[in-house]
Amino acid sequence: MQTPIIFLHGFPFNGSCWDPQVAHFKNKTTVFNPDLRGHRHGPGTQNPDGPWMIAHFVDDLITFLDEKKIQKINLCGLSMGGYIALHFVNKFPERVQSLILCDTQAGSDNNETKNQRYETIKNIHKNGLTELAKSFSKKALSERTLKNNPQIQSQLESMILENKAECIALVVGALAARNDFKSALSSITCPTMVIVGSDDAITSPEINKELALGIPGARFEQISFAGHLSNLEKPEAFNSLLEEFLMKH
Ligand code: MLT
Repeated sequence: MQTPIIFLHGFPFNGSCWDPQVAHFKNKTTVFNPDLRGHRHGPGTQNPDGPWMIAHFVDDLITFLDEKKIQKINLCGLSMGGYIALHFVNKFPERVQSLILCDTQAGSDNNETKNQRYETIKNIHKNGLTELAKSFSKKALSERTLKNNPQIQSQLESMILENKAECIALVVGALAARNDFKSALSSITCPTMVIVGSDDAITSPEINKELALGIPGARFEQISFAGHLSNLEKPEAFNSLLEEFLMKH
């Protein structure tokens, strides 16, 4: 494995979501798990000056790679990280050796979801991140994880609360404004794998299956008893799928 792997985390967490993958792959290749725009120490957190769009996250990634003089990457994004990865591969196909999309989707928000995002933004401005931290950390995990590994929920809550409320409100705006990439999927030419937790309540296995079907030759894998954070809930299963895929490509 020569080509570096870049892991892009989901909303509203940070790069440490990928710790089990960093631990597994760091002796095999170069691994990056940056905090993304608006999250913990990521770009834009010092002086949040929105509005932000997913294109800003893509610019951050290309700046990161150019600064490090990295030409090609294995790009792995979960949920929001997947939105960024899809946008990135569309804009810079020559920079992506392989693509791993986890618990994500190619579609944009419908009007109902946009209205919910608006309510979330209002709530964050009024009450901060406490409510989001409680509800989202629960929704992101499977029943099995909540029961057997409740410390993961506490870990997620702390991660959410480490963010600045104004930054997370700006990220919600970027999620709501994101493009629909469904019609662009057929132009993806790099080897691609889509991974989803069987109990993902945010981006369901059906949605992820549809995503995989849209990408020529893409492989689809489901991880049993994992929710939306399949890499964190079932790290061994996730790492072995990823390692096998990367060894081939
Ligand atoms: C994520 O996990 O990144 C979010 O669920 C994405 C979203 O809300 O669209």
